[in-house]
Amino acid sequence: MTILDGKKTAQDLKEEIKVAVSEIKKNGKRLPHLAAVLVGDDGASLTYVGSKVRSCDYVGFDSTLIKLDESTTEETLLKKIDELNQDDQLDGYIVQLPLPKHIDEEKILLAIDPTKDVDGFHPSNFGRMALEMDAFIPATPFGIIELLERYDIETSGKHCVVVGRSHIVGRPISILMSQKGPAGNATVTLAHSRTQNLAELTKNADIVVMALGIPEYLTAEMVKEGATIIDVGITRVADVNHPKGYVIKGDVAYDEVAQKSSAITPVPGGVGPMTIAMLLKNTLFAYQRKG
Ligand code: GUN
Repeated sequence: MTILDGKKTAQDLKEEIKVAVSEIKKNGKRLPHLAAVLVGDDGASLTYVGSKVRSCDYVGFDSTLIKLDESTTEETLLKKIDELNQDDQLDGYIVQLPLPKHIDEEKILLAIDPTKDVDGFHPSNFGRMALEMDAFIPATPFGIIELLERYDIETSGKHCVVVGRSHIVGRPISILMSQKGPAGNATVTLAHSRTQNLAELTKNADIVVMALGIPEYLTAEMVKEGATIIDVGITRVADVNHPKGYVIKGDVAYDEVAQKSSAITPVPGGVGPMTIAMLLKNTLFAYQRKG
């Protein structure tokens, strides 16, 4: 059984990006620059954004964290986005989700300049991705593709069951794996909360991608011997015995499923760390594209 080590792979990717940045520095050019907008003070979002900014520092990118108050109006946020769109010293930026309830998320995502949309959430990027055109691919599915590729997991002709149809994970990964590109050419089934007899599907899958958000949902009896298991779940589960008061659980009952699988991502240390590395990769693409 192979553990698909996202922590190590993400570190390898960061080292590769670091080399590209030192080349840029050597040539005396402007550095790649990523900005992150965070509205409010949701604990998990603060952790994610902090981690993204630290990773920028690590690889040598310039980074800007824009922290706005929870009570920020939609109008103020749209103004900020307009500024970021105009800023020619900025290669890409993200608006951390979820946004406070009084802000229309769709309106905000539509306002982001697609050429700076390193999250790949703008419909222009999503559509381009679906049409196999040059596009920013959202970091989580992009990270899964990269992991499958780097570990030489055969996807061509395999049956892949994706569980979860979110716009940022389930749906894009189902599209990417069915395409002709890297980690592609799979026969993909997209299952979700209304799917009947889910276990019948997962039991026949060569690859299962779990992106449901229900801790330890996928059990050993639901998978085929020798399957590859990708776990995108990261749910905080209360645990009084842990100093933080919670533990992070994936969508897969890891211990029992690992015994049956040929390759599996752990949680933490699997898909999670890959997402930040791929965001950096998208930022480097944005920089290179600008020329
Ligand atoms: N919230 C959870 N994941 C993400 C992500 O990848 N990008 C942004 N902007 N917000 C998120």
